[in-house]
Amino acid sequence: MVEELSRAGGAPVVVRDADGRHGWEPVEAPFGLTAVTGAGPAGDGSAEAAALGLDRDSVVLLTGGARGITAAFAVALARASRCRLELLGRTPAPTGPEDPVTAAAGDRAALRRVLAARGGYGSPAEIDRAAELLLAQREIAATLAALEAAGSRVRYRSVDCRDSAAVLQAVKEIHADHGRIDGVVHAAGVIDDRLIAEKSVESFERVYGTKVAGAAALLSALDQLPDGGTSFVVLFGSVSAVFGNRGQADYAAANDALENLGEQWRARTGRRVLTVHWGPWAPDGLHSGMVGPELAREYARRGIALIDPEEGPLALLRELAWGDPAAGAVVHTASEW
Ligand SMILES: NC(=O)c1ccc[n+]([C@@H]2O[C@H](COP(=O)([O-])OP(=O)(O)OC[C@H]3O[C@@H](n4cnc5c(N)ncnc54)[C@H](OP(=O)(O)O)[C@@H]3O)[C@@H](O)[C@H]2O)c1
Repeated sequence: MVEELSRAGGAPVVVRDADGRHGWEPVEAPFGLTAVTGAGPAGDGSAEAAALGLDRDSVVLLTGGARGITAAFAVALARASRCRLELLGRTPAPTGPEDPVTAAAGDRAALRRVLAARGGYGSPAEIDRAAELLLAQREIAATLAALEAAGSRVRYRSVDCRDSAAVLQAVKEIHADHGRIDGVVHAAGVIDDRLIAEKSVESFERVYGTKVAGAAALLSALDQLPDGGTSFVVLFGSVSAVFGNRGQADYAAANDALENLGEQWRARTGRRVLTVHWGPWAPDGLHSGMVGPELAREYARRGIALIDPEEGPLALLRELAWGDPAAGAVVHTASEW
């Protein structure tokens, strides 16, 4: 194995089958004819949503959908189809308008200063946590407002996707309320980048479990629905599962396992499951996602282009509408990795 790892060139060995030991090489796959003829992309995603059968009555459930790049995808879905949206995330839902004192603090640093001045916190770490919570709730409130403005009916629930009982309950309630779930997007994810020698079991479990236990909980909840569940499932993976990334052994393994879990479910149920291994997205202010300004600079230094947050969601809609339905996984990046 050490010899295989240190061999220059070629894909790393990840599979052993009857033909021996080998790796996967990604190949370019253009869309079929439909994508470039009359029924093809209209530019705003509406042709793609129609091709997917999504309309105002459809229901799409997104874990992680209230924040980050998944919120951007939810907004694209809402604009393209005005479908009903059900969003899950750990953050407790905002209970009302923010206190005007903290609301006046526009960024993390200002918020910390206002909270510290207000007092009542035992440590700087507590102030940080309070600031993070307020920022997360602001992002959720802004997402909900954007989705409603785009014409979708939307609900947010505070559910940890690693909690299989809570996921099952949410999925059953959503299905009972609407009588259907047309699409599911599992995009909940966390990173905690460090070299393997510095990783703790707790950190590994958090990074790995959010992706893998979360997907397992969702897929098994779908199995229990009376109509067999949804017509498509999308799993948000990462280019680091395909090409690796320093400090992300846990995250790369998680996203690779996610794809395998999806493949197994697809083989068993015959339903469409697509893992999208995204390259890095450009932060867009409100929904900065995992790539903050510092990481964005680092990617620029390495010559890696970032996915345009307007273009990324439309690319996924195109993939779902015009891509090969038999493809279990695709890589979407703005440049070579
Ligand atoms: N941004 C990128 O460039 C990029 C590139 C490749 C892949 N991705 C993938 O895209 C997805 C979204 O990433 P992002 O950049 O948008 O990051 P983000 O802004 O940190 O969003 C992560 C989302 O996951 C939710 N989440 C985390 N743990 C959860 C849990 N246990 N249960 C339920 N929800 C949970 C978060 O909400 P709460 O905090 O409220 O729980 C948040 O909505 C991830 O799966 C990531 O791996 C992103």
